[in-house]
Amino acid sequence: MTQSSHTLWAGRYEAEAADSLRRLNDSYPFDKRLYADDIACSTAYAQALARAGVLTADEARLITDGLARVLQEFEAGTFQVGANDEDIHTAVERRLGELIGAVGGKLHTGRSRNDQVATDIRHWQMATIRRVQAKVLALQHAILEQAKQHAETLMPGYTHLRAAQPITAGHWLMSFFWMLQRDYQRWEAAYDATCTSPLGSGALAGTPYTIDRMELARSMGFARVSMNSLDAVADRDFITGFLYIASLMLTHLSRFAEDVIIYSSPQFGYIKLDERFTTGSSLMPQKQNPDILELTRGKAGRIAGHLSGLLNTLKGLPSTYNKDLQEDKEPLFDTADTLETLLPALIGVVETMKFDPAKMLAGLDEGMLATDVADYLVAHGVPFREAHGVVGRLVRHSLETNTPLSQMPFDVYRQLSPAFDEDVLDVFSYTTSISKRSAIGGTAPSAVRAQIDEAEKWLGSVDQG
Ligand code: ARG
Repeated sequence: MTQSSHTLWAGRYEAEAADSLRRLNDSYPFDKRLYADDIACSTAYAQALARAGVLTADEARLITDGLARVLQEFEAGTFQVGANDEDIHTAVERRLGELIGAVGGKLHTGRSRNDQVATDIRHWQMATIRRVQAKVLALQHAILEQAKQHAETLMPGYTHLRAAQPITAGHWLMSFFWMLQRDYQRWEAAYDATCTSPLGSGALAGTPYTIDRMELARSMGFARVSMNSLDAVADRDFITGFLYIASLMLTHLSRFAEDVIIYSSPQFGYIKLDERFTTGSSLMPQKQNPDILELTRGKAGRIAGHLSGLLNTLKGLPSTYNKDLQEDKEPLFDTADTLETLLPALIGVVETMKFDPAKMLAGLDEGMLATDVADYLVAHGVPFREAHGVVGRLVRHSLETNTPLSQMPFDVYRQLSPAFDEDVLDVFSYTTSISKRSAIGGTAPSAVRAQIDEAEKWLGSVDQG
């Protein structure tokens, strides 16, 4: 039997693989997307074999030219999958043999699909992280632009989803900028962790050929080589890291999505979403639904499931390669695809959403200034604990008499504390309330502008690489 009509292990085997085994075992349907990475790493490997004297220069050239033709077939969409192409590695090698003959069979010298697949996925993940990072930055830019417009725009700030204190819309927006900044830094660390080359680990024990692994690693774009072949062929920490960061970032984005869903609901009306980024109902003509934001929430659950799933796959695996590890790819690819489709849609939502400052102002009530009244007493020498009690009674009176705090007779104030003067009424300004919170990280317009400056500095340093 020739290789093209039988499996990679045809020497040892007499029988053809059962169909049921093939359907379960083949990864080609989902790992074919690694074709460019597989071919790039094989090209580098052929050159490393030539440097090690395993291939002649002519053989290496034949192989690398052949691999370039296989790549062209993939890019042109003319690549024909073979009946026995179990995975992308098998498919590329089989086609190479068809194109250049027996010399193609020298490419796999000293290599195993175990170190090959680990190398290919890392190679793929390096480029993928860079694309994801670019989209994270674009989302941060969109948030920052909105924040600049609304550094002074008042809105209610919530705790427990109950109106708590006045804040600025820019402050609310920037809170998500900083979450994404931490995510971006995590992506950066993940990129670095991905840049370790396992190639040259063989099936598990290492390579007997005098391959300069460091030079090979650099030629594929990696920064360093793995230090232990047993670890290297089974190390999927870099994928776990990818899934973790994606989960955490989607957790952040799901919280943003939830806020915007609430604020853009007709009952709140703080934010108006652009028609292009919402959907209608097939039944109820009045509806404008925030599907992108709901899907952001939903995808966060799905991706957290991928992280949990992979951790469970890895848990308790015996040393080195086991076929369980083939389960690493679908969650990884699905997570990357999810991020790459979700982020542009979310960027669209953020770029086009419009705040309604009048509605947000109407969402404020004087009760949200109760802390400011307590701070007034503190400024007049009353210990905060005592001030809190005084204002508590004031608020209670206001609720019982259905009178806003600023409309209550001054007598009531005086009865509750002699520290009150007529100028307590000056406290009832939302603008004054936010302006006082000007320490670093506060909601005052000046502090929000300071955040924006810091954010722009950071973006500048990142954009320059
Ligand atoms: N398709 C396999 C995977 O994705 C490639 C490695 C196969 N190695 C093996 N010893 N059968 O994990």
